[in-house]
Amino acid sequence: MNNILLTGGAGYIGSHVSELLIKKKSNRVFILDNLSTGHKILINKKSIFFKGDINDRKLINKIINKYKIDTIIHLAATLNVSEAEKNKKKYYKNNIIGTKNLILSCKNTKVKNFIFSSSCSIYGNVRGNVDEKKKLNPRGYYAYTKLKGEELIKKYSKKLKYNFGIFRYFNVAGASPSGKIGEIETSHGHLVKNIAIQSIRKKPKINIYGNNYPTKDGTCIRDYIHVSDLAEIHIKGLDYLNSNKKSFILNCGYGRGYSVLQIVNVLKKINKKLKINFMERRLGDIAQIYSNTKKFKKMLKWKPKYNDINKIIKSAIIWERKL
Ligand SMILES: NC(=O)c1ccc[n+]([C@@H]2O[C@H](COP(=O)([O-])OP(=O)(O)OC[C@H]3O[C@@H](n4cnc5c(N)ncnc54)[C@H](O)[C@@H]3O)[C@@H](O)[C@H]2O)c1
Repeated sequence: MNNILLTGGAGYIGSHVSELLIKKKSNRVFILDNLSTGHKILINKKSIFFKGDINDRKLINKIINKYKIDTIIHLAATLNVSEAEKNKKKYYKNNIIGTKNLILSCKNTKVKNFIFSSSCSIYGNVRGNVDEKKKLNPRGYYAYTKLKGEELIKKYSKKLKYNFGIFRYFNVAGASPSGKIGEIETSHGHLVKNIAIQSIRKKPKINIYGNNYPTKDGTCIRDYIHVSDLAEIHIKGLDYLNSNKKSFILNCGYGRGYSVLQIVNVLKKINKKLKINFMERRLGDIAQIYSNTKKFKKMLKWKPKYNDINKIIKSAIIWERKL
């Protein structure tokens, strides 16, 4: 039996991770979320939910000890790249201090696995694909907080006797085929979520931030991964930690870059009325990034199920219609 504390489990990715964890009878899932950007309807009914903050050490200690937590999957964070530039204090407290608090709560407990959602933004601007050994060069404060989170997890791993799995997510999009969960929050400014919203509007319009980046069409390039594949990677990662008892860092992307304009044109094909506005660049954005998938293939020995950009966008649109 795995007793898992999942922070951020009322959020977009967290709800998909809990959906898959709970499918396995051998997992008991305890969710800690302050609902700042999470949503009650995304909380899996078979989990045990605590409304609270990752900075509340007393509450975390109580959950870890009472429920004999052996694994922490830490997804709770604030993640708006532009907001982070304007409100560094909020991001410092939530993403760095909050992560440290969670780590220190593992002291003298049964926690042996610590899984963390990091971000590809910690690599900064990269030419070609990027592998896990690449020197880190975070651009922007959000990316910096994720790098600090990684460093803290590594620093305390020996002392507090846990192994860690660090997942560097690329751009996460789409919705579960179960139809029960998907992205609700609109404050993060995610492109595919916005495409889905616009797809059901009478007068759809999309803002593209920056068209003078050094890329083929001037817009930013990203690697989009379906949220259900990403959730499954967490299950695989946990299995890996339990059987190999060895820490790892892994890029989570499919290894193919799409420009913002390419993604927007998928909607333009469906709805010719779509109006595209080119705006100033956003603070903190990098020009291009996509993953090198060598380690992903070698370590997971698994084929993603939803590696198709059209399927990803379609699933997000189907979810949006349901909302
Ligand atoms: N969505 C992406 O494309 C992407 C890419 C890279 C990394 N990530 C990382 O993935 C994780 C999950 O992101 P998401 O897209 O599901 O966003 P989300 O906003 O839907 O989920 C974050 C959850 O954490 C909760 N939370 C925030 N601060 C908290 C706190 N102090 N205490 C308790 N709960 C708190 C929120 O209420 C929310 O439910 C984040 O760590 C994010 O940095 C996401």
